[in-house]
This record gives sequence, structure tokens and C-alpha cells, in this order.
Amino acid sequence: MSSAILLGVNIDHCATLRQARYRHHERSCGQMVEPDPVLAAVMAEQAGADGITVHLREDRRHIQERDVLRLREQIQTRLNLEMAATPAMVEFALALRPETVCLVPEKREEITTEGGLDAADQMERLAELTDTLAEAGVAVSLFIDPDDRQIEAAARLRVPLIELHTGAFANAWHGPGRESEWERLLRGAETARRAGLTVNAGHGINYANIRDIRRIPHLHELNIGHSIISRALFTGIGAAVREMKQLLLET
Ligand code: PXP
Repeated sequence: MSSAILLGVNIDHCATLRQARYRHHERSCGQMVEPDPVLAAVMAEQAGADGITVHLREDRRHIQERDVLRLREQIQTRLNLEMAATPAMVEFALALRPETVCLVPEKREEITTEGGLDAADQMERLAELTDTLAEAGVAVSLFIDPDDRQIEAAARLRVPLIELHTGAFANAWHGPGRESEWERLLRGAETARRAGLTVNAGHGINYANIRDIRRIPHLHELNIGHSIISRALFTGIGAAVREMKQLLLET
């Protein structure tokens, strides 16, 4: 009856709220600067989160470097660092040593990550970065659309993990495209599994669409941010995490 899908809690939007008011403050100033994403991470772990995810964006619009360094010291589970596929970010990751790095596409103008990484069209450039991370013992994941070409590219890059982009499904959830987008994810998960990849998923997952998401086969871990942080405003982060964990257990 119970599935063992793990929950990675993405705390970026806790930092979004802090930055909305305190962008120019470097320190906590006697805990005046709030909300603290590191505290959110620790509380999420206490409520059952299996890992903590942050996206250190090039424009530093939410999570800051110092947040990531504090997380590395304070969390007890696993740190999943989402980042752009650039040599500068690889250097940062090599010094930080997160358990996993998830390579994501990044454009300055987007509100959040839109569309998966085009791994198939930049194999050579990515191979250099993924090999460097793998040699340092960092497990690499690629955030990709449920598309055969991208999944095959991930397998050829010999990364152990992929994160299937569930954004198109989440956007279609209220409309006629829900079933076809779900089937794309199902096929993507099957293809990835056959290729020997561990299948994670994320983006736009919430307390409603999780009932469909969790029926995708072979899921190892989901990375969920916005909906958990939003719910936490009303229930507290502990209850928000516990509710999502419970939904992951129900079949
Ligand atoms: N996974 C990846 C790779 C992402 O870029 C994001 C958004 O930052 C998420 C998961 C979480 O998405 P959401 O905040 O919509 O749950």
C-alpha cells in the first residue's frame, strides 16, 4: 500500500519572501531579517522531509550563497543544489559538496525555471561538467522534459539521475491536456528506467495534482517548493510538509 516516494522540499520561496523586504541586508541583524530559509529547512526536516533543495540562481533573486553555506552546515538529510550548467557554478559545487547537483537551464527573464535542460544539443559542453562533478563524488541529475531525445542524452552522459519536468503537466492540469501530459510523463519515466536512470520529478507539483503525479511509475523523489511554502503561511511548515508526505504514502 505504501509507496516509498521521497520528498525533497525546495525552500527557494522562503528566500523570495525575505528578499522582497531585506534584499540589501547582509546579515540577520538580530533576527530582524525574516523569514530564514535555513530555519525553514531544519523545520521541514523535523517534519519528515527527505532532502532539501535550493536553486542558487545566477541573478541571486532568492537563495544567496551564504544561505547555501549555512544549509550545508545545518541540515541533517541531503542537500540538492539546483544550478546552471556553468564552470563557475561547478566550482562552487565542488567546494560545497552537496549530495546531488541538479543542472537546470537558466534565463534571467524567466519567473521560475521554464522548460527542461536541452542536454541533447549540448552534450560535449555538459559532459565536461558532469564528469568533473562525478569524479568529485557529487551525484548529478539533469532537469529535463519527458522527451526520449533528452532522456537518451542523460543516459549517454552517464548521470545517475534525472528530474522529469512536471511543469507542462501542472499547467495543463485544469484543461484538456491533463491526460496527454500525464502520459508523456509516464512514458518518460518508463524510458528513463529502461535506460538505468533513477527518476525524480518536480516543478508545479501541489496538493491537488500530487494525486496524479504519484501514479507515475518508478518515481524515486519529488522536489516540491512553491505549494509547500505557500501552505506553510497558513499551517506552518511542519504541517505543510507532513500533509505532503501523507499524500505521497496514499495509493
Ligand atoms: N525542480 C526544479 C528543477 C525547479 O527548478 C523547481 C523550481 O525552482 C522545482 C523543482 C520546484 O518547483 P515548485 O516551486 O513549482 O514546486
